[in-house]
Amino acid sequence: MAKLRLGINIDHVATLRNARNATASALPDLLRAAEESLKAGGDSITIHLREDRRHILDADLARLKKHLKKPINLEMAATPAMEIIALRTKPHAVCLVPEKRNEITTEGGLDVVKGGAKLAGTVNKLAAAGIRVSLFINPDAAQILAAWTSGAQAVEFHTGTYANATGAAQKRELKRLQWAAKQAHKLGLEVHAGHGLTYENTPAIAAIPEIVELNIGHFLIGEALFVGLKASIGRMRALMLKARK
Ligand code: PXP
Repeated sequence: MAKLRLGINIDHVATLRNARNATASALPDLLRAAEESLKAGGDSITIHLREDRRHILDADLARLKKHLKKPINLEMAATPAMEIIALRTKPHAVCLVPEKRNEITTEGGLDVVKGGAKLAGTVNKLAAAGIRVSLFINPDAAQILAAWTSGAQAVEFHTGTYANATGAAQKRELKRLQWAAKQAHKLGLEVHAGHGLTYENTPAIAAIPEIVELNIGHFLIGEALFVGLKASIGRMRALMLKARK
């Protein structure tokens, strides 16, 4: 089975910092959180530069890019303004996500079927600059096909519905994700997953052999309040390894 990477989403360290002072030099220090996350077993750092800058700031992105030795995965909306920032910063990877101003978090996957040509334009520009592009989509046949047509290298499946479900409904969602991962992999897309993942619901996702990257944030940062980043990330890593065997 391919190695399963873990990307740590540190958006909510910035949420906490911004509650007091929304500047890149304020505390808690985002760069320190990123470095500790990588030391604890993260393979990459994921950050979402939202249009309203509610957590990550432009200055955070520049600072992380300057100092981090491991890859940055930048989540962003496919807008002209964000394209310029990505092309100027050149993170290792970009994950294109849908963005609604009033949502609490990224509530669903991108509609790649509807966004087709426009999204493909963004994918092409970023890919031409050497950036690995993934599309954040629901585990849906039409979306997978549209993602492949767009020229994206990877898809990240939105695991939010799975994470919020229980019992039989959660089993159904898991089956959908297992099926979708197979389809995407068959098309040659790299398969990632994320959203709402916890110690409890991650093992079943980590066991899907086609998935090679998980991006996890809110739960790990919350858990770190009690046990520290080293322990929260270390335990997630151990669970992922066990599920992969
Ligand atoms: N992947 C994507 C594309 C996301 O938008 C998010 C949330 O920002 C995550 C993963 C991480 O989700 P969570 O914070 O619920 O672990």
